[in-house]
Amino acid sequence: MAKITLEGQEHTYPVIVGTEGEKAIDTRKLRTDTGYITFDEGYGNTGSCQSNITFINGEKGILRYRGYPIDQLASGASFLSCAYLIIYGELPTQDQLDTFRDKVRENANLHEDFKHHFQGFPQNSHPMAVLSSMLNSLGCYYPDMSSNDREKDLANFDTAAALLISKVRTIAAMTYRMHRGMPFVYPRRDLRYVENFLHMMFTEPYNLYEPIPEVTRALDLFLLLHADHEQNCSTSTVRMVASGGANLFASVSAGVCALWGPLHGGANSAVIRMLSDIHASGDDGSRFIEAAKNGKARLMGFGHRVYKNFDPRAKIFATAAEDLLKALGQKDPLLDIAKRLQEAALEDPYFVDRKLYPNVDFYSGIVLRAIGIPVDMYTVMFAIGRMPGWIANWREVTENNKRIYRPRQVYTGPKERTFQPIEERDGHRR
Ligand code: ACO
Repeated sequence: MAKITLEGQEHTYPVIVGTEGEKAIDTRKLRTDTGYITFDEGYGNTGSCQSNITFINGEKGILRYRGYPIDQLASGASFLSCAYLIIYGELPTQDQLDTFRDKVRENANLHEDFKHHFQGFPQNSHPMAVLSSMLNSLGCYYPDMSSNDREKDLANFDTAAALLISKVRTIAAMTYRMHRGMPFVYPRRDLRYVENFLHMMFTEPYNLYEPIPEVTRALDLFLLLHADHEQNCSTSTVRMVASGGANLFASVSAGVCALWGPLHGGANSAVIRMLSDIHASGDDGSRFIEAAKNGKARLMGFGHRVYKNFDPRAKIFATAAEDLLKALGQKDPLLDIAKRLQEAALEDPYFVDRKLYPNVDFYSGIVLRAIGIPVDMYTVMFAIGRMPGWIANWREVTENNKRIYRPRQVYTGPKERTFQPIEERDGHRR
């Protein structure tokens, strides 16, 4: 029990303890009892839900999907088996994985009418705007899965989940090709998830894309490491939209919009732009570090609301970037700059005192760059990876939540005043 004393009166509230010993004061009755609400701008101390999906301990740098440590999954599992784990709660048996993979495979294609949607966008539209619109439009082709009737949408959940995991990748590849005025390439039934995506991205009518195992593995790892991350900005958005009863397609489409911002998923492309600018300016990183300390620049890919230690995904990406470049026989000056920035920041009191460490986005762009994915597609790649997490969170809300998400506020605007007709207002032209 927690005791809160307000205006001389003591009130007691239950304490909720999570599986890993996380503690929360249950203040749901606080306003009814006292007239007070809690104020927590940015929600840094607010538990918006109880969830079974992902556990993070930011102080210790721990991330687990359904109890499994991220480093064990990264070395032993594929993206699709992690997607299954995140959505259904258990790692799949071989039969379950085969069935799931078949369902994903048979849903890879888009309705031919979708081409008209792509044609409706200006060619240089941002891929995140296209992706969000397309995911919402996709629901229109599957009215039984996007009915906004919770029972009906849940009854069709398995197909909708596999369909979204599959088609988000097809839409992403088509968006890339639309941007470049290239013909659309259909998915192939004989290819696995990541190979199929690379085929749809890079095959030319006169030049079939040949899978490179190291590239396939690196991209699979990229998606796996992005698959879920508890109550981040985009996942909270998905849950918020779902709480009103909206269908899965609408909810993940909103998630894409939330992910787009540079403080969230948009940071992966911002990191590469930052590293390229540093490289082009001839700086070894030290001038940039000074600018970041003086508030004139932001060290993108550093800092995190939850991690006050290394983001475990950043460590895995740092190794993956080195390994991939070596396997492809490439050198990337941006990796050297990133390593120098990290070294300098980790020794600098400004970053040490504020507990700013590399986050998932610091090295992930170097992996995508080596694969040949263009910078404007990086956040789209993040969205493909995050789809299982959004889907699992949508389901958790839709199955369990009876109340719409609706925070309160502390109003700081004008007090009540009397309406004046326009001719009586100051500055009215006579
Ligand atoms: N570079 C320089 N200073 C920073 C950085 C940074 N990357 N991040 C935080 N700081 C400073 C802030 O200026 C602030 O300093 P002050 O106390 O002197 O005012 C202090 O560290 C605390 O920062 P906040 O902004 O309060 O931290 P918050 O938890 O709100 O923000 C965030 C976290 C948005 C990730 C922030 O660290 C940031 O902007 N990082 C760069 C963008 C980025 O990499 N985003 C990706 C995050 S991971 C993801 O969403 C996938």
